[in-house]
Amino acid sequence: MADELTSWWRGAVIYEIYVRSFADGNGDGIGDLDGVRAHLGYLADLGIDALWFTPWYPSPMADGGYDVADYRDVAPMFGTLADAEKLIDEAHGFGIRIIVDVVPNHCSDEHPWFQRALAAGPGSPERDLFWFRPGRGEHGELPPNNWQSIFGGDAWTRTTNADGTAGEWYLHLFAPEQPDLNWNSLLVRNEFEDILRFWFDRGVDGVRIDSAALLVKDAALPDQVGGSEAAFVDRDDVHDIYRAWRRVAAEYPDRALIGEIWLPDTERFARYLRADELHVAFNFDFLCCAWDAEKLRAVVDETLNAHQPVGAPATWVLSNHDVVRHVTRYGRADTSFSMADRRIGEPSDLVLGERRARAAALLTLALPGGTYIYQGEEIGLAEVEDLPDDVRQDPIWTRTHHTDAGRDGCRVPLPWSGTESPFGFSPEQATAAPWLPQPASWATRTVRAQAADPSSMLALYRDALRLRRSLCELGDGPMHWLPAEPGVLAFARGDGFACVVNLSDRPVALPRDRTPLLSSDPLIDWALPPDTAVWLC
Ligand code: GLC
Ligand code: CA
Repeated sequence: MADELTSWWRGAVIYEIYVRSFADGNGDGIGDLDGVRAHLGYLADLGIDALWFTPWYPSPMADGGYDVADYRDVAPMFGTLADAEKLIDEAHGFGIRIIVDVVPNHCSDEHPWFQRALAAGPGSPERDLFWFRPGRGEHGELPPNNWQSIFGGDAWTRTTNADGTAGEWYLHLFAPEQPDLNWNSLLVRNEFEDILRFWFDRGVDGVRIDSAALLVKDAALPDQVGGSEAAFVDRDDVHDIYRAWRRVAAEYPDRALIGEIWLPDTERFARYLRADELHVAFNFDFLCCAWDAEKLRAVVDETLNAHQPVGAPATWVLSNHDVVRHVTRYGRADTSFSMADRRIGEPSDLVLGERRARAAALLTLALPGGTYIYQGEEIGLAEVEDLPDDVRQDPIWTRTHHTDAGRDGCRVPLPWSGTESPFGFSPEQATAAPWLPQPASWATRTVRAQAADPSSMLALYRDALRLRRSLCELGDGPMHWLPAEPGVLAFARGDGFACVVNLSDRPVALPRDRTPLLSSDPLIDWALPPDTAVWLC
């Protein structure tokens, strides 16, 4: 507690590992913990501070592991609990912290709690851990209310009684395989506090909290009116849960709670970051913002203004396992992003997108607070938009009746080396192809190919991260805007450091009294070309 102002999570660079797609140690085509352990040296050399693992728990994988069947173990396809313990220790040996993903809004339909609730039948205390309700209509044939699943379709699924007759319905804000837990239940509350301790006891340094604003529902389960999500998003009572979690985290030294919170209202968002609640939360406004100087500047200001009163550091994210990779987004005519419309297949100029992604990396790493890097972003991967339909696994694809291609295109296994698939993702004697096919064009994108090229995206990330560590002005702390022409972002950190990003379509002269430390593309005659960023001292 004493040193919270200098705590690691205030300015950390956190690398997100989507385990299934990072590296496959045993050759079955699926990434695993041994694969991660084999690449810890790579991650240390890249210069990140912490790793966030998307769920590695036993799961039927109806939603890539966000359907958890046992919160205290590791999925056999990824390894064992002992492997996770080894990984945590080895990462610590490299000076890398570990963050696990906890999914409290829902569990898997194969979780013993849900199986017991189904077996115990209507009215049982076992069903109180979830949201079971009789249906509406003469024979209960209609769902209890009109809520829609975030993945498409109804948010309710009807059960079948032991005698084969149609039974109650249960709520699932996501897929039917992800029944929502009832957070009015003390059993649910105690269980999750215990799960936190389970992982903190194993040396985990932080917890990423999935869908953190959704846990509490209006128990009357009223119909949604006019698209309002007020009955299940950001209910005031949810904060009690995080106050209790903060007390659990405080039983351990220097642990961090990180919320996944998508809320349009930045003041409501900041309430989760009050001193006795979460330490940090993802800032998705920045991710969704178009590549536009005025709009980005407004998002930065709004973000910092919202965080300032609660004393929490901001975070910056360009990509994650749920969104279209930003090389692709930034090459489109409309560079903004919305979950509601991912626009897969829309034309994109990937050369332009990559150029902007390079500039965005320097922008992001210079802003005050923490930064998240999604695996593959450091080698400039674009969204894989032409996956064959029959390999797609994201439930969004089926639940939207194939109108939304879903998130598989940002989850394709990483290319490490070599000139053809599996590009070093799996070992040479692999028995299966990668679980999603890799594009042949990745031959020039591999880590090995880029490691040898000082102008590669990988070299830029390494250089930037190395500099960020060595410059005390970067990470947590204040910033101020410098005068700049329209279409240009220029800001200072401390007395010595400045970042200038040119989002306009013409070159911009740089101040003569500063020295460039690093630029995302070469400077031309002391001018910053379009879609280029520079760090100056
Ligand atoms: C979060 C995760 C996403 C998952 C959803 C349901 O948004 O990031 O991948 O599908 O929650 O758990
Ligand atoms: Ca494997």
